[in-house]
Amino acid sequence: MILVCGLSAVAEDGTLPPYKDASLPVETRVEDLLSRMTLQEKIAQLNQYSLGSNDNVNNNGEQVKVLPPEIGSLLYTADDAVSRNAMQKRAMEETRLGIPILFGYDTVHGYRTIYPIPLAQGASWNPELAGEACRVAGAESYYAGIDWTFSPMVDVARDPRWGRVAEGYGEDPYLTSVFGAAAVRAYQGDDLSEPGNIAACLKHFVGYGASEAGRDYVYSEISRQSLWSTYLPPFEAGVKAGAATLMSSFNDISGIPGSANRYTMTEVLKRMWRHDGFVVADWHAVRQLVNQGMAPDDATAVEYAINAGLDMDMTDNLYMPHLEALVKSGRVSVERIDDAVRRILRVKFRLGLFEHPYTDIKPENERILLPESLDVAQRLAEETFVLLKNDAEVLPLKPGQKVALIGPMAKSRKDLLGSWHGRGREEDVVSIFDGLSEIVQELTYAFGCGFEGEDRSGFAEAVKAASEADVVVLCLGERYSWSGENASRSTIALPRIQEELLMAVRKAGKPVVVLLSNGRPIDLSRISPAADAVLEIWQPGVMAGPAVASVLTGKTNPSGRLNVTFPYTTGQIPIYYCQRNPAREGSQGRYQDIPSTPMYEFGYGLSYTSYEYGPLSVSSDTFTVNDTVTATVTVTNTGDMDGKETVQWYICDPYSTITRPVKELKHFEKKMIPAGESRTFEFEIDPMRDLSYVDWKGDRILEPGDYYIIVKGRKVRLTLE
Ligand code: GLC
Repeated sequence: MILVCGLSAVAEDGTLPPYKDASLPVETRVEDLLSRMTLQEKIAQLNQYSLGSNDNVNNNGEQVKVLPPEIGSLLYTADDAVSRNAMQKRAMEETRLGIPILFGYDTVHGYRTIYPIPLAQGASWNPELAGEACRVAGAESYYAGIDWTFSPMVDVARDPRWGRVAEGYGEDPYLTSVFGAAAVRAYQGDDLSEPGNIAACLKHFVGYGASEAGRDYVYSEISRQSLWSTYLPPFEAGVKAGAATLMSSFNDISGIPGSANRYTMTEVLKRMWRHDGFVVADWHAVRQLVNQGMAPDDATAVEYAINAGLDMDMTDNLYMPHLEALVKSGRVSVERIDDAVRRILRVKFRLGLFEHPYTDIKPENERILLPESLDVAQRLAEETFVLLKNDAEVLPLKPGQKVALIGPMAKSRKDLLGSWHGRGREEDVVSIFDGLSEIVQELTYAFGCGFEGEDRSGFAEAVKAASEADVVVLCLGERYSWSGENASRSTIALPRIQEELLMAVRKAGKPVVVLLSNGRPIDLSRISPAADAVLEIWQPGVMAGPAVASVLTGKTNPSGRLNVTFPYTTGQIPIYYCQRNPAREGSQGRYQDIPSTPMYEFGYGLSYTSYEYGPLSVSSDTFTVNDTVTATVTVTNTGDMDGKETVQWYICDPYSTITRPVKELKHFEKKMIPAGESRTFEFEIDPMRDLSYVDWKGDRILEPGDYYIIVKGRKVRLTLE
């Protein structure tokens, strides 16, 4: 007879039940535990409530007392692991089977050491460095009591009116795949049960970035072909990287919302990709199926969601009250419940929660904002900055120059944190003013104007400061709340007053460097022509100031390249590099009133040095599907400053059974090239991986014929026999 009560689950002869025996395989432990569970205990595992909704530990303490300890997961928003451990103790000791709770949180671009937003990280083209940031974010989260982050967001997005474009890695499926996989590996490490490692969550599954007209929570028209060629690849890459979980998306995927979509969550994810972790709903997404016209009532919403493959209900408390009746009425099978429970238990076992249910309590100064974490934050921020314009080499700033720092972003801190800034605090941020003050000897400051509104009373002081300086650094951009969730904007232009401030300051006749801090591509059609230099710094996080100072003064050579197209204006949206050829050539079909080319294209970015690309060569210009072709190019730094250059490798399939984009990014590599030296870059082309396309059924197709390899405008033809 086994007396089973939490940690005291030992048989009379002193043996542990298999599920408590860490020497046994996870699958054995899952099956043993599942076999012991009642239907109610199983259903409890499929629910996530929240704990620590504010920073008052007493309130959290009250919640700990009233929350059901059998619950599967808690969305955890306290600042340390104290409430977590208290709640976990209840789960381990007050429940019949002692199943640990899984604590999740949105560590999206840092926990307390806030890094650049993911859109900025993608502009670094340095997934290894972005991975270092995720390692730190994971460890800070882990020691705050979090086992599971709702990150990385790998939604490909091409409508910058959508606020959540800030959270993804840009418009390209391949670049998003590389960064998403790097984040998964960084969060999870090689062994999920090791301290400091946390479970990742690929989100939002799937196609959320295609939200109609850039609005949020809405319909998304996605053909099966687009689903497979644009929106699914980053999720497939993340699953292959071992992502423990995924989060279903709010959007209605051509008639079936992501949270009730059997095709994506079961056919693709669980059957084709054989993912053995679990899918959690986005916040209240099950209940929202009623709003979306998918279900007439909550119980039916639950039926559709669980049967589609949605394993865990996030915080809308619908699975708990409705699933038992749905099972008893036969609308939901026990097999489906068991499958969902298995998936959740599997992740908990892999995390080692049964052996280590509690977080080691560390003092704050040993777990957050550590010097090495801040160093990563600064290096990553520097590599995300994109130099868009630099006429007459206004940048880098010259020693001894008098610099007038002007504008609403110059002393802001909170806005530099970006939208999903976790437990980040504005007092942790080094502002642009503070950063520059450390390096620039003669720095003056003028507010100029706010981010929006009609108050021009600060213009005169700003113009005066400009006239008394040698160069102006004008800090413009978006508030942190203007991007992120539920932050769609009808225009990507900055408020008029910011543009007017630029025009006013220009009249002082001094060179003007515009620094842009924003969470989406901005309409620069009036700003860029009026500036001598434009540096895109996105939302760089806690080390914004030092990173800006290092790049503006030339200590660091900017190496960012755009991972998202900057449209000429809102009217061009959607516009992205991997579009298909139109039916007509020349100017036909183009806009009659504005240019049809973007302001700044995907992959673009300047440097303080110059690079010369040698000829592009290939190991063979004919090949079979079983061959590997090596493409090679040598790049020389012809300037007098060391710099990091990213070689971007594209392919083109000019004629195919389905039309394909004019070019598709398939490889990239960033290297430091010292001034005057050369480096060789290679692309090992695997035809099936790099030249094929995926059709609407998810089958990978490689057709004979001509292909092109493209690097920096150079093209070489390959022929598949
Ligand atoms: C939000 C977001 C999602 C986040 C979740 C939990 O609504 O859509 O990205 O992870 O809720 O906070």
